[in-house]
Parts: sequence; structure tokens; C-alpha cells
Amino acid sequence: MSAPKVSIRQLGICYAGAPAVRDVDLDIPKNAITAVIGPAGSGKTSILRTINLLSVDVDRAEVKGQIRVDDRDILAGGVDRVDLRRRVGMVFATPQPLPGSVYDNLVYGPRLAGTRRRADLDALVESSLRAAELWDEVKDRLRRSAFLLSGGQQQRLCIARTLALGPEVVLLDEPCSGLDPISTFKIEEMMRSLRDRFTWVLVTNNTKQAARVSQRTAFVLLGQMIEQGPTGQLFTAPKDPRTGDYVEGRFG
Ligand SMILES: Nc1ncnc2c1ncn2[C@@H]1O[C@H](COP(=O)(O)OP(=O)(O)OP(=O)(O)O)[C@@H](O)[C@H]1O
Ligand SMILES: [Mg+2]
Repeated sequence: MSAPKVSIRQLGICYAGAPAVRDVDLDIPKNAITAVIGPAGSGKTSILRTINLLSVDVDRAEVKGQIRVDDRDILAGGVDRVDLRRRVGMVFATPQPLPGSVYDNLVYGPRLAGTRRRADLDALVESSLRAAELWDEVKDRLRRSAFLLSGGQQQRLCIARTLALGPEVVLLDEPCSGLDPISTFKIEEMMRSLRDRFTWVLVTNNTKQAARVSQRTAFVLLGQMIEQGPTGQLFTAPKDPRTGDYVEGRFG
């Protein structure tokens, strides 16, 4: 693997003194999809939300260790949050559109970041909706409320909104958990076709999804990293028996 885009070392996460994640090491390669799998409560969301410091700023988590994004350790302090979250975007399990139209949802962030020209904003709306495999479904209703879209469309809108900010890393926390198979398929297609343009981290409790879309998989259990490696290898020739038991559905 060439130099990872994100490199996590000895990560510890506690909530009110109670440890949730211990000594996690994880390398996340550039221009690939890394899946993080593991049973409920194993710390997947906590790890993901620490890569853009939401756990620290919103969940009051206490963290230690290192998370290097490129060469900078974001746990070392003094990180500009606006810049970090533009570079490291996040998509949540439940779609959270902003009140307003489909168009408003997409231009909100870019306008704050200084893009003002109408033609530039229009072009960004179209390209990000196309990237999120949503353009054809909403091109005639850009001015209608985002809340009128289906759940799967709302989730793709949230993905388009994240992509419109031009991120380098895209964090997805169970993005398909509440969705129908067609929306799930479209989101997987989107990740595949944009794989080379971003660094993806996909938290999923669907091991089949991890096997379908990711190139690298990390298995966490009870707050610890059990095993990580190329997806094919982790699924077919796991080194740790707990990994094999989990991916074959013997516990979950
Ligand atoms: N904001 C919080 N405050 C206190 N404890 C938390 C908080 N978030 C997570 N935890 C605890 O940290 C541990 C790991 O939770 P986390 O949500 O990271 O797991 P997960 O693997 O994402 O689980 P799931 O598959 O259910 O989403 C759990 O014991 C959980 O109760
Ligand atoms: Mg979670």
C-alpha cells in the first residue's frame, strides 16, 4: 500500500471516563473504499466521528493517540474545524436534509465557502447530483422541498451535498441502513464509480455490502481492531478466528 491518506495509531476513545475504543491502528488508503465492520457497540461510529473530530466537539469524547490526515496529526490540537470538515466530509445513517429546496441544500455550503456566481452554483448542483446518481430523478424539481424526496433520494441528496464541498475523504456511517434495495444499489454504484476520486471510509453492519464494494476491510470488536487487510483476503482467509466467525454470520 502506498502512503495512506489517513493513518490512525493507538487511538483511544472514552465517554465520561468509560473506554469505548482502545489502541486502534488503522490505515486508510487513498482513492479506495475502506470498510469498517463489526457488531453493534464495537466502536465503529466512534472511530469514524473522530476522523473529523465530531466525537470530540459534539459527543464530548476524550481521545488519545494519533490520526494523521496526510501529514498532519489532527489530535495534536489547533486544527481549523471548518477546513477539516470540508476536507473530511461525513454522511450519516439517517438522511438529514436542510429545510429548503433541493437546490438550497446543495449550494448552502459552497455559498458559505465563497462561491457566489449563479452559473458556478448551477454547474456544481448538476455535477454533484450526477455524481450521487440523483440528477435524473430531481432535475425537474430542484426548487421543491428536499423533504418531498423519498428516503433513498434524501440520502443521495446528502451525499451530493457532501461531494459539492469538494472533500478529499468521505466518511459514511451506515449510509444504506434504512434504505430499500434500489437506493442501496445506487449508492453502491456511486461509490464504485467515484472510487478513484476520493478516499472512502464506509462503516457498515452489512458484511455483504463491505464485500461487494470495498477494497480494504477492518474488523472491530468490543472497541478493538481485530484484523484489517485486503477485503478478499479478510473474507476468504481471515487470520483471526473471530473475524471468520463474524463474516460468516456465526455471531453479529
Ligand atoms: N455520545 C456517546 N456518549 C456515551 N457513550 C457513547 C456515545 N457514543 C457511543 N458511546 C458508547 O461507545 C461504545 C461504542 O459505540 P459506537 O456507537 O461507536 O459503536 P458502533 O460500532 O457504531 O455501534 P452500532 O453498530 O450500534 O452503530 C458503546 O458502548 C456506546 O454506548
Ligand atoms: Mg454506529
